[in-house]
Amino acid sequence: MEYPKSDYKEYPKTLAPDDLWGQVRRTVYGKPVSDEQIQMIVESIRAGLGLSGEDVLLELGCGNGALSQYLFDGCSEFVGVDFSDYLISVAQRKFQRAGFRFVASDALAYLSAEDRPERFSKALCYAMLSYLSDEQAQALLMSLFNRFTGITTIFLGNLPDRDRAHLFFHDGKDFTTELDDSASQIGKWRSPAQLEALAAQCGWRMRVELMPDNFYQAHYRYNAVLERAR
Ligand SMILES: C[S@@+](CC[C@H](N)C(=O)[O-])C[C@H]1O[C@@H](n2cnc3c(N)ncnc32)[C@H](O)[C@@H]1O
Repeated sequence: MEYPKSDYKEYPKTLAPDDLWGQVRRTVYGKPVSDEQIQMIVESIRAGLGLSGEDVLLELGCGNGALSQYLFDGCSEFVGVDFSDYLISVAQRKFQRAGFRFVASDALAYLSAEDRPERFSKALCYAMLSYLSDEQAQALLMSLFNRFTGITTIFLGNLPDRDRAHLFFHDGKDFTTELDDSASQIGKWRSPAQLEALAAQCGWRMRVELMPDNFYQAHYRYNAVLERAR
């Protein structure tokens, strides 16, 4: 059966239980990306968030926790949220331990339901925001601003850059409609300027951080670090 590329609920069940990078589609030509590339990602998140070891980190769209686990030593508590029951079951089985929890929930539903939101100090969405519409992304950033009052910094990682989409789609096909579709393979492409405007409406000031040139997706993706503007 063919699954849409953005399906993280059913598709991962078709792969081997230990194919952690395959399950979250972190592959190149079907092969998991190298440890060196993964460590570049981990470093970019640690530095962007300025993880101190004391931080209480909330990750939205954490998948199976394969990336999250590398951040555990940068925080004193961790909650990872994902709406794929299957990926969360993998995360719980492989990586959950006291104080480092994984929750199966839609991100927006979790944000309104969390009853101690003020304890979090940092938030992360890695390779996730593009799967939300503008309305959903705005609701997410608003809720983090208004309810999660202890959060100083948000890292929005691995964002597809609309200004550089032509560097990704080079087979000559018309890709313009795909760029606005949050259910497409890559999700919705936003330029840094578009995301900056969206973040500003929710109270966040944004700066762009680019990956080193030898990162395999450096030519069309960027990271954004958000801090409170007021
Ligand atoms: C490309 S994967 C990235 C997983 C993980 N962050 C990583 O980088 O390894 C995108 C993840 O976002 C999750 N996701 C997408 N929309 C979501 C939503 N509305 N609420 C919670 N999770 C969502 C998917 O289930 C999937 O696990």
